[in-house]
Amino acid sequence: MLRLIAIVAVSSLLAAQEVQPAAAKLDFQKQIAPILLERCVECHGPKVQKGDLRLDAREHLFAGDQEEWNVLPGKPDDSELLRRIGLPVGDDDIMPEKGEPLRKDQQALIRQWIAEGAEWPVAVDKWFATAIAAKVIPKITFELPKVDAEEQAAIDAAVAELKKRGAVVQQVAADTPAIDVNLSLLRDKVTDADLALLVPLQKRLVWLNVSRTAISDDGRQHLQKLTQLRRLHAANTQLGDATFTALVALQHLEYVNAYATGLGDDGLAKLAELPKAARIYAWQSKVTPAAARTVRAAKPALALDLGDYVEERLAAAQKEIAERAERNKPVNDTCPVADKPIDPNQTVEHDGRRIAFCCGKCKAAFEKEPAKFLAKLPPKK
Ligand code: HEC
Repeated sequence: MLRLIAIVAVSSLLAAQEVQPAAAKLDFQKQIAPILLERCVECHGPKVQKGDLRLDAREHLFAGDQEEWNVLPGKPDDSELLRRIGLPVGDDDIMPEKGEPLRKDQQALIRQWIAEGAEWPVAVDKWFATAIAAKVIPKITFELPKVDAEEQAAIDAAVAELKKRGAVVQQVAADTPAIDVNLSLLRDKVTDADLALLVPLQKRLVWLNVSRTAISDDGRQHLQKLTQLRRLHAANTQLGDATFTALVALQHLEYVNAYATGLGDDGLAKLAELPKAARIYAWQSKVTPAAARTVRAAKPALALDLGDYVEERLAAAQKEIAERAERNKPVNDTCPVADKPIDPNQTVEHDGRRIAFCCGKCKAAFEKEPAKFLAKLPPKK
């Protein structure tokens, strides 16, 4: 009986040992490919290949001279791709080149994937192709009111006049008559009176950018009439709550950028009440933290951006830089090969620690046979 138990115990131990690494191995398509799709393929995909790199198909990543591969299967620490995503915020080489850095857990997954051999099943190439195709053609459809011939003529005339004045006027997408007007490039040449030109477009105008223009609250009588508007960029303008409270007429409004405007607590409350309101940027406006808290509590689905994350990120970045500096400091003062004082420029990374030597020769000696010198180093913490 005892023997039987012992055999069962041993065999289940063996089974556990065999099964575990396989079970922990990650799923490239489910865990890695979505990160590449969301954060990299825009610049490293079928359309654009920044740095001559594509991250949507196996054969592109593992092509040519192996020395040049950005991912070296089994060698995360020698893989340029992993180095790039782990750089500190603000580093010129950090990837993705724009937006937030990859989260720590995403970086860890990519490290694990490379360490496990960077498998890329052929089927995933197809998954990428399908996913990219779905992303490239976002279906932007708008339910817009009908326009009769007379109204269409007025729209065409207004578009021509706006373009003549240097505004950017375009269709939002190929399959919709919805119009996007950008006046922000004209800066202070745009005043309240010019907003009257937008009124004939009211059944078609869905996106409007008036950022940095010289418009004021006196122009609100025109803005109020743009009842099909979905997005309004009004950053860096003098607009205040007289305008923002008047926007209640814009029942389709989803997005308002009121960065550095006079948006106050009343205006915010009104905008937040709009049935479609999804995102409001109110950084450097007059909105008080108390009003922001009230709105956030009442409308959890609304993304209200007060820029309060900026300081958090700065602190996190500073901490990361300090940690990196600490990690890059050699653990020893004396060369483990020659017992002489170290030269801080002669270092190698070994087993997660930076080790310094007195000269390049000693460094080479160590790299050849580290075990021989380990006893001379301070004990690992
Ligand atoms: C907004 C565009 C953009 C995004 C998004 C982006 N990159 Fe890049 N990437 C670049 C540019 C530009 C270069 C070339 C300049 C350079 O080497 O820094 C580059 C170069 C690279 C290189 C070096 C290629 C070589 O062989 O020299 C790697 C590796 C890389 N990117 C990885 C990534 C990864 C991984 C992601 C996603 C997590 C990503 N990039 C997202 C723009 C981008």
